[in-house]
Amino acid sequence: MVRMVRLNQGLMRWWCCKSPHLRMYYQWSPPPLTSSQEGVKHHVVDLRSDTVTKPTDGMKKAMMEALLGDDVYREDPTVSELENRMMHLTGKDAALFVPSGTMGNLISLLAHCEHRGSEVLLGDLAHIFLYEQAGMAQLGGIQPHIIPTSHDGTYDAKELVHRLRDEDVHCPRTTLICLENTHNKCGGKVLPLSWIDEVGEVAKLLRLPVHMDGARLMNASVASGESASRILEACDTASICFSKGLGTPVGSVIVGPEPFMYKALRLRKVLGGGMRQAGMLAAAALYSLDHMVDRLAHDHSHAQMLAQAIHQNGNKIASCHPSEVHTNIVVVEVNPDVLSPEEFCNRLSVVEEGEKSAVGDSIIVKVLPWTNTAVRFVTHHDVSTADIEAAAAKLKYVIQEIDKNGCECCVFADYQSEAERNEALQCRRGLGVEKSSLGACCRPHSVNDAQRRLFEMAYVRVKIWGNHSTLTTVMSVRPA
Ligand SMILES: Cc1ncc(COP(=O)(O)O)c(C=O)c1O
Repeated sequence: MVRMVRLNQGLMRWWCCKSPHLRMYYQWSPPPLTSSQEGVKHHVVDLRSDTVTKPTDGMKKAMMEALLGDDVYREDPTVSELENRMMHLTGKDAALFVPSGTMGNLISLLAHCEHRGSEVLLGDLAHIFLYEQAGMAQLGGIQPHIIPTSHDGTYDAKELVHRLRDEDVHCPRTTLICLENTHNKCGGKVLPLSWIDEVGEVAKLLRLPVHMDGARLMNASVASGESASRILEACDTASICFSKGLGTPVGSVIVGPEPFMYKALRLRKVLGGGMRQAGMLAAAALYSLDHMVDRLAHDHSHAQMLAQAIHQNGNKIASCHPSEVHTNIVVVEVNPDVLSPEEFCNRLSVVEEGEKSAVGDSIIVKVLPWTNTAVRFVTHHDVSTADIEAAAAKLKYVIQEIDKNGCECCVFADYQSEAERNEALQCRRGLGVEKSSLGACCRPHSVNDAQRRLFEMAYVRVKIWGNHSTLTTVMSVRPA
């Protein structure tokens, strides 16, 4: 056999089809710049996430000037001020500053589900379910019970009733219902208020509390024009992040009733989330409440600009309907017959020869693969309208180029022995591709199924053209 299988396309495709949402977007990194790109001044537009923002000068000043105390002793005046502010903003009785959204959700789930063998009802695309390491199971003996998520981030509220466990020695105990607003995996969708209220009604009937993962709750509030307290009316508790669209370096707040918050305080300590002079961070959060909330509307209109750029381009490579974009997240579907999400991200993160003169600037756009057929763009404080225009220009150019030229498939065999070399050669022959010293090239469209299978079976190593150190995928987006 040809030695190492870093990426088996067949397996990969099977895996992606089986679990289209489990793509490990956090692990994707763009290809390094080629030698011809190094030293060139690029216009870099980082749209990977709204977590990449840096604190503004005003925010840093507020942090420097914050009154401080030991928050584990509950003596930090700035943390207290932030917690009071969040209680009023959300209409809840108590609040607690925590280091991250993940910890905010984990503490909330552990506080709601005190007994091992509890079960939480939540959507199958919830961040809590997909991307928080099953913290509830690892640390709380809690089992997630998932409900299929609709494209708008909701799920069928009737399913909550169907999935409620009987009081029976065989069953876990249904203990909590979770929601997420805005819904990250569904592309920053704002949950319809009527649906949240409906879930609240069902929860009351079932005597279950509701927790909201409100990492981007303020985006939902700005986009819908509803206050945070109104959005959370049907929810008992919520975790709200400052380190996303609100642009602070660190921090989230949990809000909820008093007795719950006492449990949350104990849990924060045991999880190592008790921060001493945390007022420096709380000051950034207070600053963000004063200066960063209203401006989220700019991020939302920037997201619309990106969606329009793709939509108006009308092409068979990438698609996105502006009406699907509610807030600062844009999910762009790429045509899997032409290229993969990684290939699209890779192409956006390099500048090809001649591109600068065609586009008018040397633009690099950083985005993340999101599902097996989609890429995610996130707008935030640190991207300006000029950046978005540059990103839109790059998108148009890249899409047109791929549309015009198709993709080139580059195959590089990495054989360690004579037998492996023969196998690789056989594979190339099977593909009917043109041979070169480095490998072989062909148009992906010209590869038939039998050839593809042969290719997969032979475990030929595949590298992106021009980026020989990265071993990821079968097709390059270099114009043929
Ligand atoms: C919806 C949602 N919830 C929770 C989190 C976790 O937040 P943190 O990265 O602060 O742990 C994220 C992070 O992106 C998120 O998108």
